[in-house]
Amino acid sequence: MATLNLIGAGRVGQTLARRWQQHGYFTVQDVLTRSADSAAAACTFIGAGRPVSDLGSMRNADVWMLAVPDAAIAENAALLAASEAPASSIFHCSGALDSSALAALQACGWRCASAHCLLSFTSAHSASQQFPGTPCALEGEASTRAVLHAAFSAIGARCFDIAAQNKLLYHAGAVFATNFLPVLQATAEAAWSASGVPAELLPDLRQALLHNAVANITRLGPAAALTGPAARGDLAAVTRQASAVSHWDPAAGAAYRALSDLALRLANSSKASEASAASTSCAGAFSSKSI
Ligand SMILES: NC(=O)c1ccc[n+]([C@@H]2O[C@H](COP(=O)([O-])OP(=O)(O)OC[C@H]3O[C@@H](n4cnc5c(N)ncnc54)[C@H](OP(=O)(O)O)[C@@H]3O)[C@@H](O)[C@H]2O)c1
Repeated sequence: MATLNLIGAGRVGQTLARRWQQHGYFTVQDVLTRSADSAAAACTFIGAGRPVSDLGSMRNADVWMLAVPDAAIAENAALLAASEAPASSIFHCSGALDSSALAALQACGWRCASAHCLLSFTSAHSASQQFPGTPCALEGEASTRAVLHAAFSAIGARCFDIAAQNKLLYHAGAVFATNFLPVLQATAEAAWSASGVPAELLPDLRQALLHNAVANITRLGPAAALTGPAARGDLAAVTRQASAVSHWDPAAGAAYRALSDLALRLANSSKASEASAASTSCAGAFSSKSI
């Protein structure tokens, strides 16, 4: 079985290594984190691996995973490049950075890639259970991408290739889809509190509105699920509300205006496609009549 070394073993590193270990895909070998305690705890969770306290103690491996925070990827790549470790395949797990973050290793003959899983890893425990079916964006050197495609597919990921120059935009999509939701919810709840909604109603409001929104978007798609003043084209209401929000919180007011612009664009695009579908069906009716 191919061997896997880990540098960084937090939520993502532990989740992936545990799944590979459980599926008998990689032998998890050496695990390096910032502290001996966390490396030992990671090995316990993964169910395999030897905690090490420095790069020099790490043995050769077929594949290396660099699952450290984005800001520490280049620095750790440079440290590994400066060590005696022979060149191998390596990948990092960032969505926003491409494999050029590993340039120091590439210069030493390492085959570098990136693999980003589109899942919110709130904890290794929950992510391990939620992982099957997760899309995984692969980028970088071809032979490492092929190795990763097989490895991620084996633990239930749905892999696709992404161009290096598109990673930032791709990751911004994930930020819109998931990271901004808690921000919007926190802003909504602060506005309700400031306007006198009783605190004991907030948990129920949160659950009901989020649940309905998710159900509608999933069933109908985003354009058809859009409701509210922008969807009705009520520009006067949008403007009045934007002023009220800005008066309460200028940053929330700016966000309200920007999101209302996008909501109007979505509502208009939906109306335009309905009109085009109606004119196509009229043209169809007309041509069938004329036949
Ligand atoms: N969390 C997500 O939802 C998610 C989703 C997809 C992709 N990612 C990507 O996955 C990567 C890892 O994220 P994560 O959420 O797993 O991070 P994390 O839970 O914070 O774990 C980071 C790991 O790296 C170690 N570490 C932290 N700073 C370091 C440094 N300066 N040098 C060396 N090691 C360091 C930590 O050591 P200690 O254990 O000793 O603290 C820990 O083991 C990132 O590139 C992130 O963008 C995250």
